[in-house]
Amino acid sequence: MISQSKIILQIIVIASVALSIFLYYQLSIRGFLDDWCSCKCEMDSEANLWLSERYNRSARVLMNSKNGAVDLETFNWWTSLQGASTVANFTDLVEDLFSLFPDKDHYSDSSSSRCRRCAVVGNSGNLLGSRYGALIDSNDFVIRMNEGPTAGFERDVGSMTTHRLIYPESAMDMDNNTHLVLLPFKILDLQWLISVFTTKHIDQTYMYVKPSIKADKNKVLIVHPAFIKYVYESWLQRQGKYPSTGFISIVFALHICDEVNVFGFGATSDNAWHHYFEDFVIGVNGGPHAGDFERSVITELHQKQIIMMFKGW
Ligand SMILES: *[C@@H]1O[C@H](CO)[C@@H](O)[C@H](O)[C@H]1NC(C)=O
Ligand SMILES: *[C@@H]1O[C@H](CO)[C@@H](O)[C@H](O)[C@H]1NC(C)=O
Ligand SMILES: *[C@@H]1O[C@H](CO)[C@@H](O)[C@H](O)[C@H]1NC(C)=O
Repeated sequence: MISQSKIILQIIVIASVALSIFLYYQLSIRGFLDDWCSCKCEMDSEANLWLSERYNRSARVLMNSKNGAVDLETFNWWTSLQGASTVANFTDLVEDLFSLFPDKDHYSDSSSSRCRRCAVVGNSGNLLGSRYGALIDSNDFVIRMNEGPTAGFERDVGSMTTHRLIYPESAMDMDNNTHLVLLPFKILDLQWLISVFTTKHIDQTYMYVKPSIKADKNKVLIVHPAFIKYVYESWLQRQGKYPSTGFISIVFALHICDEVNVFGFGATSDNAWHHYFEDFVIGVNGGPHAGDFERSVITELHQKQIIMMFKGW
């Protein structure tokens, strides 16, 4: 009898030790993952200060009929970007836009319990061979830009697209699961958007543009002109003429998401600059954007663990 209860005791001791070891490893793995993911993770005070000098949580991100008014200074700055090729009564234009497209207070649901994970997918050639596809598609939102295709590149870039930031000159067809997000750089861009879903008569800006594209009208979103100015002033210290689509997309994600994972930005590992879907080399400086400055801010965001950069191949 005595030896039997001794054996039972030994089994209990061994089982408890095994359970403790199991729990210890489970918790330390969880701890490792918490460090790696930034959703609701603590930021150190230096990163917090740096961010608070740039991030304005009251910035208007997407337009609607109620926040659509722009002050004269913003209007003059915005219409100088690509020239005021057309004149329009802006108040009337905003009214026309939101009689056609969803007129909501978009993504104003931020709270301490929301954990929206987003992938921002740039068009860099460093995605080729990366096999990031499944990782990208595991996010709640996948934000792409301009012509960046998924067909034929799914293994490296994923197949899901919840948002695509475009302007008339970079427009392409999108499926019904994707929000067309217009990035307007001039009044004509807003008029083009209306035309695409009605008369289809605008096919020319400073170049030929598609008069019609496939997209779900009920998912159209429009970046606020004041948001572009905010990104330029608050994030880029007025470097360059105006921010690039890629840079705007990252700040856009910082505003509507809780965790931002960035793919397809920067050069390839052998320092080549091209899109993953075409061969020719792209200019990284010059043009209207302050490429070096934008890249330095993105690097800071990564080093301060505000975003997570996946550098590709
Ligand atoms: C933040 O944005 C709001 C809304 O545009 C503006 O009124 C406010 O002045 C901005 N704050 C800072 C510190 O720039
Ligand atoms: C724009 O149109 C509205 C009426 O739709 C009018 O009240 C306003 O004065 C017009 N603004 C300009 C600058 O013409
Ligand atoms: C997308 O929606 C439009 C309008 O509702 C419909 O005509 C079209 O068939 C849909 N396309 C797909 C691929 O579901």
